[in-house]
Amino acid sequence: MVNALPLTWDEQGVAHAARWQSASGAPLPKRVRVVDDTLNADTAYKLACEGHALLWRGDYHQARQMLTALAHRIDKARARRKLAAAPLGPAQAFHQHRKAQAERARILGLLVMALDGQHTLALRRAPESVKAAAQAAIGEQTGPYVVSLRELLGWMGAWEWRQVGVAVPALGGACIHPHYGVYSPVRGEYLDLLAEAPLPPALKAHGLAYDIGTGTGVIAALLARRGAARVVATDVQATALANAMETVQALGLQHRVELQSADLFPLGSERAALIVCNPPWLPARPSSPIEAAVYDPESRMLRGFLEGLGARLVPGGEGWLILSDLAEHLGLRSRAELEGWIAGAGLRVLGRLDTRPRHGKAQDAGDPLHAARKREVTSVWRLGAA
Ligand SMILES: C[S@@+](CC[C@H](N)C(=O)[O-])C[C@H]1O[C@@H](n2cnc3c(N)ncnc32)[C@H](O)[C@@H]1O
Repeated sequence: MVNALPLTWDEQGVAHAARWQSASGAPLPKRVRVVDDTLNADTAYKLACEGHALLWRGDYHQARQMLTALAHRIDKARARRKLAAAPLGPAQAFHQHRKAQAERARILGLLVMALDGQHTLALRRAPESVKAAAQAAIGEQTGPYVVSLRELLGWMGAWEWRQVGVAVPALGGACIHPHYGVYSPVRGEYLDLLAEAPLPPALKAHGLAYDIGTGTGVIAALLARRGAARVVATDVQATALANAMETVQALGLQHRVELQSADLFPLGSERAALIVCNPPWLPARPSSPIEAAVYDPESRMLRGFLEGLGARLVPGGEGWLILSDLAEHLGLRSRAELEGWIAGAGLRVLGRLDTRPRHGKAQDAGDPLHAARKREVTSVWRLGAA
C-alpha cells in the first residue's frame, strides 16, 4: 500500500524522511524513536503499546530477538485476559481471535527498519538475501523506505519458499514457486482430491476447462496434466497471474493454459466442460490484501461462482467447488446455507470427495480455533446443472 505522506524522524539532530511501506495498510506511525541493542524488551513493549515506531539501528539478529520478546509479552498479556474472560461460542471466539491477531500485528509492526532505494538494510549482520527478497516483494523503489521487521521477515520467508518451492504430489512431485502475496498450495490435500476426482466425460469431447482464481496456477496445471486440451485460468491479482504464467511455463504447459485478468469467469461466452474454483474458505473481511485469498467477505466469490456456473457449462459439464467446512464449525456459515446457494443457482450435487487436513495446525491443541480445526473436512463438491 502506498502512503502519500513519508515517515519523518529526527536522528542526532538531522531530519530524515522515508516512504512508509505497509502491505497491510498499517497507518503511518505518528512518533518514531531511534533505538538499538541497548533498549530492553519491557521498555520496547511499553513504547510500542503507546504507538511509538521503534526504528532499529542495532544488530539485525538482536532485532529479531526483540521481535520475539515483544511477541512473548503480547501473548502473555493475552493469556491473562483470556483466563479472566467468560468462555465464548465458536463464532465469537473466531472474531475475538482475529481482533487479538490484529492487535498483535499492530504492536509487532512497530519495530521498523530503514532501507535505501536499492533495498540495502545497513545493519550489522543483516543477511544478504534482504535485497533479493525485498525486490521480489515490492519491486524497484525510487527512494528510501521504512518497513516493519515483521513484514520484512515475511518477504524473506516468501523468498525462501519461492526458491525452494512447494512440492505437489498431484503434479508428480513438481514444485510450485509461490510469489510473495500469492496463495500458496502448501496445504495440498485438496489437490490430491482434484487429482483423483472422476473427470466428466464431456471434457473428452469438448476439451475446455476453466480455473477460477488461479493463484500460483497450480490447478490450471493439474487440469492440463489430467488431459484438458485447453485451460483458461483467471485471477484479479496481477501478481497471481504473473506467478501462474511462470508455473505453466516451467511445466511446459503454456500452449494449453491461457491466463486472463477477469472477475471470476473468463470474458466471452464460450462454455467449458469442467470449471474449478477454490475460493477463500472463510466468510470474513480480510484485514490486508495478503489475506484476500483466505477471507471472502460475505462469501462473495463463492456465491458469484455458484451463481454464474450453470450458464458457463456445456451439457454434461461439471463445476468443482473446493471448500473446507471450517466456516461451518466456526458458526460463520451453515451447511443449509451452502446447499441453499447451490440449489438457488439451479445446480445439483453430483458427488463429493472429502479429505481431512494434514497440516500442523489441525493438531495444535494450543491454537485458539483448535476445537473447530480438528473437525475440519476439505471437500471437492461436484456440481452439475439441476
Ligand atoms: C484461495 S486462493 C486459490 C488459489 C489457487 N486456485 C489454489 O488453489 O492454490 C483464491 C484465489 O482467487 C483469487 N480471486 C479472488 N477473488 C477473485 C475474483 N473475483 N475473480 C477471480 N479471482 C479471484 C485470489 O486472488 C486468489 O488467487
